[in-house]
Amino acid sequence: MGLFDWIFGKKKKDYLIEWEDRYSVGIIEIDAQHRRLFEIYNNLIEAMYQGVGVKELGNALNELLEYAVVHFMTEEGYMQKYGYPGYDAHKNVHKEFRERFYGLHKEFHEGKPVLTAEVTEYLRDWLKNHVLNMDQKYAPHLKKAGAR
Ligand code: FEO
Repeated sequence: MGLFDWIFGKKKKDYLIEWEDRYSVGIIEIDAQHRRLFEIYNNLIEAMYQGVGVKELGNALNELLEYAVVHFMTEEGYMQKYGYPGYDAHKNVHKEFRERFYGLHKEFHEGKPVLTAEVTEYLRDWLKNHVLNMDQKYAPHLKKAGAR
């Protein structure tokens, strides 16, 4: 049992995101980024369960935020390039997540105990549901328009 088993009341595997084919949008660069995003998120969970120090946990959180920002920019670039009609709505959802994450990140670095079970579940569920639902919606349009 790690430190966070008690706090979360759940096993680590309940928090980890394992890549499955259903997450694939069929565009090589985006699939690679989603895999990497899950990997970085999983590294954060591993760090929490290993009970690493605040500095290391902060680094893991920074990495996830930074990579999410890079990924959103890449994905929005594809949507713009291929004229996806849902671009504005999708971009707004990215923005809302980014702003919430920036807030959490700021509070963490101010020393507040933000990495609770609720926040961790929010991150996990947001990542999984976003890739499975909203990201899947642009896939047919982008592929039809020539994205590979
Ligand atoms: Fe893959 Fe819309 O984030």
